[in-house]
Amino acid sequence: MKTPTTHGVLLKWVTDMTTLCIPDQVVWCDGSQDEWNRLTQLLVDQGTFTRLNPAMRPNSFLARSNPSDVARVEDRTFICVKRPDEAGPTNNWADPAEMKAILLGKFRGAMKGRTMYVIPFCMGPLDSPLAKIGVEISDSPYVVVNMRIMCHMGSHVLQRLEDEANAVTPRKRDGHSYFIPCAHTVGVPLEAGQADSSWPCNDDKYICHFPDAREIWSYGSGYGGNALLGKKCLALRIASNIAREHKWMAEHMLITGLHSPDGSVTYVAAAFPSACGKTNMAMLVPPKEYAEAGWKSSVVGDDIAWLWPHEDGKLHAINPETGFFGVAPGTSYSTNPIAMDSMKSNTIFTNVALTDDGDVWWEGMTKEAPAHLIDWTGQDWTPDCGRPSSHANARFTAPAAQCPTIDPNWQNPDGVAIDAIIFGGRRATTMPLVFQAFNWGHGVYLGATMGSEMTAAAAGTIGKVRRDPMAMLPFCGYNMGAYFAHWLEMRRYLTHLPRIFHVNWFRKSEDGKFLWPGFGENMRVLDWIVRRCKGEAAGHETQIGWTPSYDDFNHFGLAGFGEQEFANCMAFDRKEWKQELVSQAEFFIELYDHLPKELLFQRELLAARLV
Ligand code: OXD
Ligand code: MN
Repeated sequence: MKTPTTHGVLLKWVTDMTTLCIPDQVVWCDGSQDEWNRLTQLLVDQGTFTRLNPAMRPNSFLARSNPSDVARVEDRTFICVKRPDEAGPTNNWADPAEMKAILLGKFRGAMKGRTMYVIPFCMGPLDSPLAKIGVEISDSPYVVVNMRIMCHMGSHVLQRLEDEANAVTPRKRDGHSYFIPCAHTVGVPLEAGQADSSWPCNDDKYICHFPDAREIWSYGSGYGGNALLGKKCLALRIASNIAREHKWMAEHMLITGLHSPDGSVTYVAAAFPSACGKTNMAMLVPPKEYAEAGWKSSVVGDDIAWLWPHEDGKLHAINPETGFFGVAPGTSYSTNPIAMDSMKSNTIFTNVALTDDGDVWWEGMTKEAPAHLIDWTGQDWTPDCGRPSSHANARFTAPAAQCPTIDPNWQNPDGVAIDAIIFGGRRATTMPLVFQAFNWGHGVYLGATMGSEMTAAAAGTIGKVRRDPMAMLPFCGYNMGAYFAHWLEMRRYLTHLPRIFHVNWFRKSEDGKFLWPGFGENMRVLDWIVRRCKGEAAGHETQIGWTPSYDDFNHFGLAGFGEQEFANCMAFDRKEWKQELVSQAEFFIELYDHLPKELLFQRELLAARLV
């Protein structure tokens, strides 16, 4: 095939990978509708995709993965740097040369009998100063069509790469390379005549990052973040390394715009651990009272934010992605109507159930389950069969442009100026509904110590807090202690620091009931945050930070939520906080040699305030 580029470095890499992987053919992806039509039909013909009823879900498909390949594999995710302490104790470390030797062995001949797709993609709007071009080679057409939704992909990206290479003064991306090479194979070569499975994957999996060479190599999985390498691998693990070097931040955060009745917009970025409702918060629908008063919210991103000190002195943010890869179970018109509307068409569903009329269903989508379904494993399913119809980590891949509340600036190369950063976890006790950090350093400490109670896990861990600093535990591509130092250092490059808050939607009463209704009502908490950012709301200094009083908080119209209910949500218990400090210490000790002193001092200060 004629290659659609003259970019020498790229051509050499593709040639080398072809020699290594020995695919039957190489196809350069152009990102066109025609290509989408061809590949989705190929996936239907191979049995990977079921075309959904076009009258109900136009141009949409259901994929069922191999039951052994259903989620990110954190224990098979490696940061390959010279010294283990560069990766830090929260990552799996591997020696780069040793890992490269393993991978070369694994990739040798791995694409026999398959097509190698070359996927040029760009994370972030092409003209953004932060935009990063990557090229993924993959033997999975499922990856190609998902990448087309999740990022800018195709000929226009390749053209940009070529233009930059040919420019008189080439704009070297980070002085390193023009593109980030991302090598992916499902790891199942086909011998002549051998039948393929509908979801090829290998039991042996490697998700490897080489931060110094800026390379990603992924072997054995076709699912989500393991295979769509622009997302967690590039936009977080590799990008966090680039960001540290170049004084910006790659974060696991949603970005949302809160539009006040006076027409002003306050942009907030929020970090919550995986499966704590980031997509719901990004797509928050203000309650009736707010909507009637003229409040609106808009979505810039639901998972990843790249933030940098803009020349205006503020922290600006872009969403490097162009799609949502959201968890389907639990999503419904009552929990997240915006997500439901975003996936009405042109959407790929993975590991959900198929209805008899050719649409999709999952637990929580409607109050009543359909009488009959084909479940995510391809078996007949009835409501009384005792099995869930969809995998708990089943996903929808939907274009962000279809989101009815997408922010007008979501593709602005200049990003949006962030006024507030919010941290939060899933905490049944201790953490009040909302409080504000005293300053940036205290805010970094709140992010560094955030965590969630484990819900279902090995015996003995239920209720134990899993620390997930800035929600980056599985995604920070270097030593977490150095990452905290980077956060603290960013203060120096900003003249308008975002305010930092901690929220907890998940606090429970002693009898196990949620104290706060959550969902759209979270707007009331955001309202206080917005007014704090504008200097319009009172806050009260407490041991843990600034908090609203009942009168500072808009509780009007919230049925059954009086002063006592508010007090329960906001309660501070010295005993619980002492326990919290002890548990934070366990985590800090793990990171001790790289932990900035300032965070130890923050902990000491908190201890002093608790006496
Ligand atoms: C995700 C995750 O899929 O955080 O976004 O796990
Ligand atoms: Mn995520």
